[in-house]
Amino acid sequence: MSRLSILCICFAVLAAGPGRVQAAAPLSDATQECLDCHASVTLGIVADWRSGRHAAMSVAQSLGGDNAVRRITAGEVPEKLRGVAVGCAECHTLRPDRHADTFEHNGHRVHVVVSPRDCAVCHTEEASQYAENLMSRAYGNLKDNPLYAKLQVSIIGDTGEKDGRITFAPADARTRAVGCYYCHGTRLAFKGLETRETDVGDLAFPVIDGWPSQGVGRVNLDGSLGACTACHGRHSFSIEMARKPGTCKQCHVGPDVPAYRVYAASKHAGIYESLGAHWNFQAVPWTVGRDFKAPTCAVCHASQLVGEDGELLVERTHRMNDRLPKRLYGLIYTHAHPRSPDTSIIRNADGQPLPTTLDGRPAEAFLIDQKEQGRRLKNMQAVCRGCHSTTWVRGHWARLDRTVAVTDAAVKQATGIMQRIWRAGYARGPAEGGNPFDENIERTWTELWLFYANSTRFAAAMAGGGDYGVFAEGRFNLSQNMVELAEWLQQQEKLEGKASKEKSAE
Ligand code: HEC
Ligand code: HEC
Ligand code: HEC
Ligand code: HEC
Ligand code: HEC
Ligand code: HEC
Ligand code: HEC
Ligand code: HEC
Repeated sequence: MSRLSILCICFAVLAAGPGRVQAAAPLSDATQECLDCHASVTLGIVADWRSGRHAAMSVAQSLGGDNAVRRITAGEVPEKLRGVAVGCAECHTLRPDRHADTFEHNGHRVHVVVSPRDCAVCHTEEASQYAENLMSRAYGNLKDNPLYAKLQVSIIGDTGEKDGRITFAPADARTRAVGCYYCHGTRLAFKGLETRETDVGDLAFPVIDGWPSQGVGRVNLDGSLGACTACHGRHSFSIEMARKPGTCKQCHVGPDVPAYRVYAASKHAGIYESLGAHWNFQAVPWTVGRDFKAPTCAVCHASQLVGEDGELLVERTHRMNDRLPKRLYGLIYTHAHPRSPDTSIIRNADGQPLPTTLDGRPAEAFLIDQKEQGRRLKNMQAVCRGCHSTTWVRGHWARLDRTVAVTDAAVKQATGIMQRIWRAGYARGPAEGGNPFDENIERTWTELWLFYANSTRFAAAMAGGGDYGVFAEGRFNLSQNMVELAEWLQQQEKLEGKASKEKSAE
């Protein structure tokens, strides 16, 4: 055995444990060439890559290590990738014929957009689970749903005016990319090559429409969906980042999707904020109570958790609905979780592309059944039981179930008022071919179910601080909008009554 390989094994053993990672795996010749230039051309990228596990370890070293830690889930990794560190060339020259953006770059066929299918060459399981996640479909779930297109245009569309009324025209691609598709992800398109002057002379680079984007449902140039970098920022691709809540905050913080705000105001986050600096966010497997003492988003939704003696509490999942029986995000009511991550196929009993009808009947054929809901609830509760008693957990869900029932009932009442407004012709609703989201009174109704009912439910589900269920876009605002809807309708009816009295008096 050469001295080099002994050294490598020593480092591999060191690196397999938690703590800082040392660069030790041999580099391929191609990656060495990339580094020779890129250490000065894009120094931040190179330094960041060096700090991660891809620089520290080859596939062979990883597989040779502790088998309880299976970061490589591919059955078979191509021979030439096995013995070297996962360097620039290993990712950016993988599957060159599959990428529309592959270009000749200093003697190598490089592509810029490294996709989930590239990662799948080594991380097969994570990539295939992720494809079952709503996130991977977030682009089409928005774009291919005609009703959501109306919601979209009423928010990010270009405003105009006709007969004194505000009109909305579809937004351009650049606005969409910083609007709804910033989180949902853009569609990438290869537009040809462009030659630019660089520090090392003239070089050609691909022009890619829709890029940059790290949206969770991005449509890639090899046809794959999503961006693993949404949670594993390049180029350290660390597990630690994905386990910390700030990573999810980027997209889960709005008044419509307030998971982060609710979490940030919870007792759990209070403990994380005070003591989290002492926890171990790199350990695999991750031991409840020893490595961390209160949950982050990842703990409840994704992580593999074990107890002190190594027994499995719950398996890791990148299909982040494995622990979600219900969809609390009302469309427009809560409902059992959709069966398929592609929600654009859903049609309710009234033929609308929604999982519930406007009066609350679920589109059952497209939603998971009771048995599957029970399985997922058990998964989530297994997480809680790592730290809480059964009585505590039951008490929590009794309140959540009640909150779901109460908020759904409120949405039903508000929608009943909205339908009376549409029927009376005080606003142009879906029956008249109008956009149900664009007029002021329609926005009052939209806020009620999209912001306030959601916030109230999220606070109850994620043990959030009291405010998000009450005064901070919770029950207070919900009741306020309910009163506004009812009084506005009454006022219109009065005005109409007055007008018709005047008419008959003439
Ligand atoms: C002779 C020097 C040189 C070598 C060798 C080299 N690169 Fe580059 N690379 C550059 C320069 C210069 C740029 C442009 C940087 C900029 O746009 O500021 C670049 C840009 C890139 C980009 C970004 C392209 C874009 O349009 O955003 C990628 C990806 C890339 N290189 C990957 C690689 C990989 C992988 C290797 C090794 C297989 C490699 N490079 C080898 C000099 C080099
Ligand atoms: C584990 C796979 C992987 C490795 C290893 C890797 N990259 Fe990347 N690289 C990516 C991904 C993923 C992206 C994000 C592209 C996108 O989807 O937008 C990226 C993007 C880039 C970009 C364009 C992004 C920007 O901010 O300009 C450059 C340049 C680049 N990589 C250079 C390198 C260099 C140099 C190395 C070696 C030090 C390297 N990469 C190693 C996966 C990898
Ligand atoms: C050629 C194989 C290969 C490819 C391609 C690859 N990886 Fe890895 N990945 C590895 C190896 C080897 C490790 C380290 C394994 C270990 O620690 O035992 C690793 C570890 C990881 C980790 C865990 C890091 C940590 O801090 O614990 C993440 C996350 C990850 N990779 C994400 C990605 C993503 C995202 C891509 C695609 C952009 C990708 N990988 C592409 C081989 C690969
Ligand atoms: C800041 C990130 C972000 C932006 C920007 C964003 N969304 Fe979303 N969207 C989300 C998240 C997160 C969810 C998932 C909510 C949940 O399940 O809790 C989501 C889910 C949705 C859904 C449900 C889709 C389905 O069928 O699964 C719709 C509809 C939607 N968003 C509409 C929009 C519209 C319209 C816009 C632009 C006006 C927009 N979103 C902008 C983050 C975002
Ligand atoms: C770049 C934006 C982005 C980031 C970062 C992000 N999400 Fe999401 N997430 C979304 C969007 C958009 C959706 C909704 C997709 C849809 O409904 O079509 C979503 C949906 C989800 C869902 C519902 C999945 C399902 O299949 O039902 C869960 C759970 C979730 N996210 C958890 C997380 C967690 C935990 C993190 C951090 C570790 C995170 N997300 C980071 C954008 C993001
Ligand atoms: C929505 C956020 C999110 C996205 C997107 C995401 N991951 Fe992860 N990933 C996580 C979390 C959270 C963990 C930590 C799981 C744990 O603690 O067990 C993780 C862990 C990992 C690991 C380490 C597993 C191990 O054995 O230690 C790998 C490898 C990985 N992810 C690959 C990927 C790949 C490949 C993709 C794209 C297909 C991807 N991830 C997309 C959140 C995400
Ligand atoms: C204490 C555990 C816990 C923590 C911590 C937690 N969640 Fe949740 N989350 C839940 C539960 C429980 C549900 C509701 C499950 C159900 O009824 O299907 C949920 C639901 C969700 C949903 C789905 C909403 C929907 O439309 O159904 C998203 C998205 C989500 N959480 C994201 C996050 C993010 C992002 C964080 C961190 C900022 C986070 N969660 C922190 C337990 C947690
Ligand atoms: C890693 C341990 C851990 C996990 C996992 C965990 N919790 Fe907690 N939780 C705690 C700790 C510690 C507290 C604070 C107890 C105290 O000091 O009052 C807490 C507090 C709470 C509170 C009380 C909030 C308050 O302000 O009164 C609720 C409710 C709660 N957890 C629900 C859950 C639910 C539901 C789950 C699973 C979805 C869960 N927890 C998972 C550790 C955990």
